[in-house]
Amino acid sequence: MNILLLGSGGREHAFALKIHGCIGLESLYISPGNPGTAEFGTNVTLDLTDFSAVYAFCKEKNISLVVPGNEVPLVAGITDYLTLEAKKDGFTLGVSGPSTWCAQLEGSKEFSKEFMFRHAIPTARYASFCQGQMDEAKLFLHTLTPPYVLKADGLAAGKGVIITHSFQEACETLESMTNLTLFGKAGARVVIEEFLQGIELSVFAISDGDTWQVLASAKDYKRIFDNDLGLNTGGMGAISPVPFADKEFMEKVKSRILIPSFEGLKAEGHPYTGFLFVGLMNVGGDPFVIEYNVRMGDPETEAIFPRLKTPLIDILYAMASRGLNTISIDLDSRTAASIFLVSGGYPGEICKGEVITLPRSLPEKDQWIFHASTTLEKGILKTNGGRVIAVTSLGKDIKHALERSNSLANQISFNNKFNRTDIGLDLLYFT
Ligand SMILES: Nc1ncnc2c1ncn2[C@@H]1O[C@H](COP(=O)(O)OP(=O)(O)O)[C@@H](O)[C@H]1O
Ligand SMILES: [Mg+2]
Repeated sequence: MNILLLGSGGREHAFALKIHGCIGLESLYISPGNPGTAEFGTNVTLDLTDFSAVYAFCKEKNISLVVPGNEVPLVAGITDYLTLEAKKDGFTLGVSGPSTWCAQLEGSKEFSKEFMFRHAIPTARYASFCQGQMDEAKLFLHTLTPPYVLKADGLAAGKGVIITHSFQEACETLESMTNLTLFGKAGARVVIEEFLQGIELSVFAISDGDTWQVLASAKDYKRIFDNDLGLNTGGMGAISPVPFADKEFMEKVKSRILIPSFEGLKAEGHPYTGFLFVGLMNVGGDPFVIEYNVRMGDPETEAIFPRLKTPLIDILYAMASRGLNTISIDLDSRTAASIFLVSGGYPGEICKGEVITLPRSLPEKDQWIFHASTTLEKGILKTNGGRVIAVTSLGKDIKHALERSNSLANQISFNNKFNRTDIGLDLLYFT
């Protein structure tokens, strides 16, 4: 089978690593890919906003499975487009991602909140507002206690949520979101929600429209500095599994969240296919949904996939062809710790083009180096953005996995390299 993987980050490097070498794979293409994915397949340049060009490529290379790594093409409707075109042509093409309708779970915060309320899925109380509704918004804010959570309805590359600490700040933020100053069109509608106090984690599930299964739990670290200080980033590291996501907690996640989510989508005529990433808050032992994402996470993938023993190609193909009932997910029971090495200054101004020195990735020692923002210039590996490289190690527990990832991180050098030194330490309390 020939596969086309879409994306260019550490997540896609992890996908490429796990797809490569699977029985049944003929060729793997990655668009646009990065120097890491090039080790496992052929990087190709396609305009991912031009679905007809993507489809033409699929036909030319006889692709039978498209794997969208990030949310942008999914929310823009790539699954429906490719499926429909292929059907018209009698061409067999699967997509391991959700329909346009289901992708709204990530594409619109309001849509996802409405869905959760329709199906009594535990989540924070909310109301949504657009410009000119300041009086209504103030009335709603008065029913909450600070801090207040304000979310741009549309896609904002993980930066559309602002937590404000006073009533006045909430009103000002709402105004600059709805007048489009802050996040452009994504902020035209704003969801204001109750602040949930607890510890966050994510649970990943896979579904083929008929059946679904839990893949794994993970915890990511979003702030740039230790102790969750500083600005939000794309993610500074991740741990999988999460020690407090024990059997009892996961049973609650399944019965209160995953079953009503997958069954609810089915009942509304939109069975879900692909990876479902459920962002959760553990509030005193009870899971509440913070958000849905309709794909794997980055950096969570770099922590989860190294644990995966089931051939990834089998999972991807099963999701796209209603075959999940024949798959059993086999995960390494050890802990994975993934740490991101970023360019100094990130998530603000950074310098690109710094020369990177890497040791060899050592999968035989259960250690991996994932490229995110790197580029090859005349054979020399250089930094090409904020999040440069993720290192992952397996260990017998969090401490051991962290020691190994830290030691690998220390063997990688580039000017102004920065990483958090406290990834996973908050979880030691639960072990
Ligand atoms: N209701 C809430 N209570 C407390 N914190 C929240 C709440 N909603 C979101 N957050 C915080 O804001 C972050 C971003 O919100 P999220 O809905 O995941 O949006 P996105 O990932 O699209 O930016 C979450 O990871 C969480 O830390
Ligand atoms: Mg989030």
